[in-house]
Amino acid sequence: MPDIFTEFKVKDLSIKNRVVMPAMCMYSSDESGQVRDFHLLHYTTRAMGGTGLIILEATAVERRGRISGNDLGIWEDSQIEGLKKLVDEVHRDGAKIGIQLAHAGRKNETFEDVIAPSPLLFNLKYRTPREMTQEDITAVIEAFGRAALRALKAGFDYIELHGAHGYLINEFLSPVTNERKDGYGGGAANRVRLLKEVTAKVREHWPEEKPLGLRVSAYEYEAGGNTPEDVSFMINLVKDEGIDLINVSSGGVVDSPIEVFPGYQIRYGTEVKSKTNLPVIVGGLLEHHHMANEIIRNNRGDLIFLGRELLRNPYWVLQASRKLGMEEVVWPRQYEKAKGNKLMR
Ligand SMILES: Cc1cc2nc3c(=O)[nH]c(=O)nc-3n(C[C@H](O)[C@H](O)[C@H](O)COP(=O)(O)O)c2cc1C
Repeated sequence: MPDIFTEFKVKDLSIKNRVVMPAMCMYSSDESGQVRDFHLLHYTTRAMGGTGLIILEATAVERRGRISGNDLGIWEDSQIEGLKKLVDEVHRDGAKIGIQLAHAGRKNETFEDVIAPSPLLFNLKYRTPREMTQEDITAVIEAFGRAALRALKAGFDYIELHGAHGYLINEFLSPVTNERKDGYGGGAANRVRLLKEVTAKVREHWPEEKPLGLRVSAYEYEAGGNTPEDVSFMINLVKDEGIDLINVSSGGVVDSPIEVFPGYQIRYGTEVKSKTNLPVIVGGLLEHHHMANEIIRNNRGDLIFLGRELLRNPYWVLQASRKLGMEEVVWPRQYEKAKGNKLMR
């Protein structure tokens, strides 16, 4: 029976344990979108702390696809070098690293061209987006493709498409934000079309043996919004384009309140897992090692993500290995003396 310290394999990627750091925007770059010293320190600390897979924060495939003016970017070749350095340093510390390719759509706060499937406002903090033309759609698909090639050149192990939290792909998937009358709007088969075309384009550049993931908002906390059943249906329409892993989140599509509690999204993940037959990353307010382990041991998900807990405690995995008595877990050589209580001189 697997537990959080069991290796996980998907395509050519082997992850040493089941603990994932999900994408978390750090808003620590600038207009250039380049990797800064902060990013190197931040991500390598989590790698030294034993995290199996680190997913780099939402990284914009187009300048107008940024959330803020401080997002990381992968919209031009000059950004590859910094990303490659980050990948190499995280690898040196024993973790695998993926990148979340993102387009903010109507949740772009940078006061550039704001685009979305339909001209609907999220809330007063944002501007009303312009309805995308076919030209815009083609440009976005191409941008995802070029970003995938850059991610390959930078050496990433994994790509995750950001299809959650009300950003551009999610805006197409959701009936609440997509009122298009063309082939990209209407029924689920049309709403998933942008994602399908993005996936196919990414797969032209991202080799078949490398895993490609998708983050979804499986529940929208809004009448008429997508449910785990709807989202699973759409994943099943697109997975043959080459999707290997689903990272199950929720919300962010509309500005409605979410009632959170430890494990609040796990049931959505388990449902998506059973309805799509794809492995899932699940999480949401996870903190306790026994609870994290229970999810894997009961097969409610294949991997768990720890977001804010890994911001609080980059050494969560090493500490969990002590608490769970997992002596065989390998610690960084420099920290080995902290593994047990016996003082070795
Ligand atoms: C500071 C911060 C930034 C985030 N940025 C992203 C992001 O870039 N992409 C994404 O998919 N989710 C993002 N999220 C959501 C997290 O990945 C995660 O789903 C959420 O925090 C819930 O997990 P937790 O309760 O373990 O923190 C962010 C969350 C936080 C706290």
